[in-house]
Amino acid sequence: MTPQEDQQHTSCVNHEHAAHGHSGHGSHDHGQGLAEMLDLDALLLGSYLEEAAEWAAGIAQTAPRTILDVGAGTGAGTVALARRFRNASVTALDRSAAMLAATRAAAAAEGFTDRVHTLEADLDGPWPESATADLMWASSSLHEVSSPERTIGGMYAALNPGGLLVVLEMDSLPSFLPADGTDSHTAELGLESRLHAAMAHQGWNAHPDWRGELERAGFHRVEQRSFNTMGRPLPEPTARYAANFLGRIRTALAGDGAPATHDTSPGAALRAQDLAALDALLSGTGPSSLLHRTDLQVRGRRTAWAAFKA
Ligand SMILES: C[S@@+](CC[C@H](N)C(=O)[O-])C[C@H]1O[C@@H](n2cnc3c(N)ncnc32)[C@H](O)[C@@H]1O
Repeated sequence: MTPQEDQQHTSCVNHEHAAHGHSGHGSHDHGQGLAEMLDLDALLLGSYLEEAAEWAAGIAQTAPRTILDVGAGTGAGTVALARRFRNASVTALDRSAAMLAATRAAAAAEGFTDRVHTLEADLDGPWPESATADLMWASSSLHEVSSPERTIGGMYAALNPGGLLVVLEMDSLPSFLPADGTDSHTAELGLESRLHAAMAHQGWNAHPDWRGELERAGFHRVEQRSFNTMGRPLPEPTARYAANFLGRIRTALAGDGAPATHDTSPGAALRAQDLAALDALLSGTGPSSLLHRTDLQVRGRRTAWAAFKA
């Protein structure tokens, strides 16, 4: 994966804000970091994908024969869809060749090589002609394209009549630290909320409620559902996910911490002690270091919208 792709994928989670070149927080390497994070997300939280695929199966008008995973990343959704819809052919679309290679490997590992295909295309350009389907699925990708309206229009036009679109987005950044802090880590009390506020202030994941956009494109019967995601109790991958994710936040907030004299809105500037606490979490040594912690758990929430083409 190229550094550009890694940075682009940072926006998968941190929404275009990790480009300041802060270094020294090991997990943000130039290449595998993002793919690793998507894989850890699938490993620890992936059950929501199965739930969402089941939800789609329950509301689809007919069993889909063709499925398009729009912005497939490393293929967690593609594989979940291939698993749920055993008679369907699933195409993973992404502009990243490296992500599509990871998707092919994930599909092969599950024995889905015959039914899973990949399509390299940049949706910031024209909609690819061959990208038609009975079911389209866009997980954490719609907020990334340069014109979601145009992409939704492309999806609507390319869906087969009666087809179903499912859009999924993260509602909140994942949390990892014990919710009420711990006696031994008092500096962490409320830390993640303040980090999330700082990221929100930078515009993190400012995706709208997609219902209006979907209806304007012609979709009807728009339904919405939330999935609370609670990570599996796997300490080592949880610690790696936390280090990767909080490292990206640290990069995005590089230079933050200076008092903002002109901007007093929530999250405008982090307290210096919060950045110090974040650095202690990210350091490879010391009692706070994420990599030595066993009290972490990934928590988050996602919203899904389902909509039909007439
Ligand atoms: C946050 S990742 C989500 C991956 C996967 N759907 C998941 O839920 O784990 C977003 C994906 O959308 C892809 N993407 C972003 N903009 C794109 C575009 N304009 N055209 C095609 N793919 C794009 C990225 O390359 C990335 O793989």
